[in-house]
Amino acid sequence: MDDSNERPSSPTVIATERLTRIFGQTVAVNELSISIHAGEVFGFLGHNGAGKTTTVRLLNGVIAPTAGSARVFGLDPTTHGHRIRARTGVLTETPALDPRLTARQTLHYFAEIYGVPKSERRRRIEELLEFFELSSRGDHKVGSFSKGMRQRLALARTLIHDPELIFLDEPTSGLDPAATREVHQMIERLKQRGRTVFLCTHNLIEAERLCNRIAVMAQGRLLAIGDIHQLSSRLDRGHRVSVEVDAADLSRAVQLFARTPPVVHAEAAPNRLAGRNGGAFIMLYGVSRRDVPRIIEAALHDGLRLYRVQPEEPSLEDVYFALQEL
Ligand SMILES: Nc1ncnc2c1ncn2[C@@H]1O[C@H](COP(=O)(O)OP(=O)(O)OP(=O)(O)O)[C@@H](O)[C@H]1O
Ligand SMILES: [Mg+2]
Repeated sequence: MDDSNERPSSPTVIATERLTRIFGQTVAVNELSISIHAGEVFGFLGHNGAGKTTTVRLLNGVIAPTAGSARVFGLDPTTHGHRIRARTGVLTETPALDPRLTARQTLHYFAEIYGVPKSERRRRIEELLEFFELSSRGDHKVGSFSKGMRQRLALARTLIHDPELIFLDEPTSGLDPAATREVHQMIERLKQRGRTVFLCTHNLIEAERLCNRIAVMAQGRLLAIGDIHQLSSRLDRGHRVSVEVDAADLSRAVQLFARTPPVVHAEAAPNRLAGRNGGAFIMLYGVSRRDVPRIIEAALHDGLRLYRVQPEEPSLEDVYFALQEL
């Protein structure tokens, strides 16, 4: 593993060492070693069955590891689960809310369960209703809420005891784009407030947008970890550069670039705003930012009219699928 797994500037909140959990024949989490630091929004990415929820349960001491170890706030979840859970908030995959209670009653109920001091409850609940933009619906029954409102209330409930570390297990699954956006905005605000968030998701756009660092899991194994740039840099074949040449030079340019190392493939990219101002786009594969001077040199040497050279970073989606194939 590279050193991107370490971010020494802020305290370690979660550290696992070859953490493993086996259910019968299934290795749900396989020798997972990661560390997560205070203030990070950490994306935990993987297909169905990758081991995301199992990891959340292990870290909260809901289940015990088969092998390896974990520390959360320096505590062992197996022996100190209750102390850890007092400082974590967990939004589970399918949070159950009682449709007969109002939003305010729901939060009161959970404030009591989580031992929020009576003197603080009211203020805390009003703050959360406001933060999640539910104040005006506070006395409405949850049964009348839209999915997005329910999820915001479930998030509010997760934060009732002001946890330092928040686990969100697929917080936007099943939500429409508008509700998804609402939840993203709430996570952004938690990020701005310096909360540590462990975000399980298979929504790659969500991870790319919200997370400082991302771990990609498959079948219990950690495939890669780092920020999006570190992950992209592992994917050489995903690197592309788009160039805009004069439309009159298009076929000559494609041939020239195709034989300019380290280009592995060059093709006209007709649907990229082609034709505007007489320009035509070509996509060059197998080249990255550092190869741009060579591309320009080759074009100038051949007398091509070059209007634009744009390195295209592979998206998290490119990286994710390439990693699954390795
Ligand atoms: N209690 C259990 N008993 C038996 N097998 C389990 C149990 N919990 C999880 N598993 C298995 O462990 C593997 C990992 O499951 P897990 O729920 O952690 O995946 P996940 O990444 O959260 O998937 P999803 O995206 O579908 O929520 C799966 O093969 C699952 O069937
Ligand atoms: Mg899951």
